[in-house]
Amino acid sequence: MCGIVGYIGEQNACPILVDGLKRLEYRGYDSAGVAVLNGNGIDVRKSVGKLKALETALENCWPKGGLGVGHTRWATHGRPSDENAHPHSDCTGKITVVHNGIIENYVQLKARLIEEGHQFKSETDTEVAAHLIESHYKGDLAEAIRTAAKEIEGSFALVVIAQEEPDKIVAARRHSPLVIGVGEGENFLASDVSAFLKYTRDVIYADDDNVVTITRNNIKITDLDGNPLDKKPRQVDWDAAMAERGGYEHFMLKEIHEQPRALRETMRGRLSLEKDCVELPGINLTDDEIRGIDRIIMIACGTAYHASMAGKYAIEHLCRIPVEVDVASELRYRDPIIDEHTLGIVISQSGETLDTIVGLHEAKSKGAKVIAITNVVGSMAARDSDGVLYTYAGPEIAVASTKAYTTQLMTLYLIALYFAQVRGTLEPERARQLREALWELPRRAEIILDDYRDVIAAAERYYCFNGFLYMARGINLASALEGALKVKEISYMHAEGYAAGEMKHGPIAMIDPTFATIAVTVKSATYDKMLSNIREVKARSGEVIAIANPHDETIKDYADRIITIPETEEIFSPVLVALPLQLMAYFVAHSRGPAIDQPRNLAKTVTVE
Ligand code: F6R
Repeated sequence: MCGIVGYIGEQNACPILVDGLKRLEYRGYDSAGVAVLNGNGIDVRKSVGKLKALETALENCWPKGGLGVGHTRWATHGRPSDENAHPHSDCTGKITVVHNGIIENYVQLKARLIEEGHQFKSETDTEVAAHLIESHYKGDLAEAIRTAAKEIEGSFALVVIAQEEPDKIVAARRHSPLVIGVGEGENFLASDVSAFLKYTRDVIYADDDNVVTITRNNIKITDLDGNPLDKKPRQVDWDAAMAERGGYEHFMLKEIHEQPRALRETMRGRLSLEKDCVELPGINLTDDEIRGIDRIIMIACGTAYHASMAGKYAIEHLCRIPVEVDVASELRYRDPIIDEHTLGIVISQSGETLDTIVGLHEAKSKGAKVIAITNVVGSMAARDSDGVLYTYAGPEIAVASTKAYTTQLMTLYLIALYFAQVRGTLEPERARQLREALWELPRRAEIILDDYRDVIAAAERYYCFNGFLYMARGINLASALEGALKVKEISYMHAEGYAAGEMKHGPIAMIDPTFATIAVTVKSATYDKMLSNIREVKARSGEVIAIANPHDETIKDYADRIITIPETEEIFSPVLVALPLQLMAYFVAHSRGPAIDQPRNLAKTVTVE
């Protein structure tokens, strides 16, 4: 998830681009760059690091010209560096591109372009787009982009300028956001409206496979075959801060809503129904090595630890490999049994959590191979591991982790399916059913996010209770712990997550009419046992909110409130269960008033022991 901006008009483009990038910096801050077109050609300036570094590099010699593009990067292919920073150009330097998204088939396209004689300077997938457009360019930039877009698989918002056509910017999108700002004598393109809100509130949202050409006074939108499309501008009434959050009141809510997209990005190029298999190129393990694993140890903290708990269930169930999960801060002090047949999996959104990194080194020092699941390209976890699987959640700004968690779950499911495929532990028909169910998850997540009035109503009733108890069984024990953690960290309320079978060994003593119990009662092997646990809570005058599947008539006789989520395979249900629990925490905190995105006493990345 990167930020892109384009400007054409009478003003000097560069200050407008840099200002737009400031508003977009929340989308990525590994590097930044601008390209401005003037009588001398295309002037490209870029710098690794935050936007400040680019501003320092520009000091006193800002490129001049009324047309340009800018980019702030969240690395996906290629570590953060000057060379990998956008904009990227073709061989001649006459076509320059900024890009947000992931070009899945970039390896194949790059090989073909190299064979045709193109020379690459970076490790990025974006540079492929620049050369691909060059290879199709015959004097009509929009036409070249249309042809290139048909060849690209994956997600992209591309904004392109060409020296030969100094009066226009051309853009195209598929699955990545692109919005047009309609000005007077000037027009804008950006990842979101916050980049140009100072100048115009009239916007047009481009759709998938639209190709957009903006000049100073005109906007033309076509489909990939060049057929013109008629789209009318609409007005946005958000203020700048709200626009940055996509119109949501907090980053946390925005990030909750980003989960269907983030889940799809994380699956992209790894799970394909056509190919009938899972592919995990970054894992860096041979089939023999995967067959030789006799134990897995997962190392993580906080929310990532909860993801690892669900991962244990999935891997043990599908691959029959014993899995241990460790809170990273405990691992090194317990003298763990690890050898060269152990596979370590470290899970960390930031990839910098000190305890997790120490655990990674501990596992490696004992001879284990270690793979990292992280959201940050080039992070320490990524650098120090033998293999890395990125979650493509995009930057997570809110301290409370949401989309990082569900994309970690998705990555663990992909690992489980991949290992099962290599080790032959699943019947082909069952493997196919599971792949299809996984593929469907983002769509089911969308259904939850389309209408969650029942969650808001529950939060409004329970926010002034004395506390929450989350109970679940099986793989959803992870969901119970994660649901309780979310409430604790942003609303500062007492909340506990428990295995429902443990209730009578202690926690049931807490139940009274001021203590709400959230029971995960989705379709599962332990559904009937969960019903008995709900009865026990009800018998002690506790109120119960059940997270259940639609068409479950039985649960109506048990719970006080029911929040429904679509049905899926039990092992994948934690992804869907997470959404109402995150929303519940959000709306409880909202009613109580704390600073949701930056709760007290917490930091996004914990780099101390
Ligand atoms: C909770 C939360 C934390 C992190 C934990 C690990 O919402 O965000 O519990 O999950 O600090 O952080 P990473 O994943 O960066 O290692």
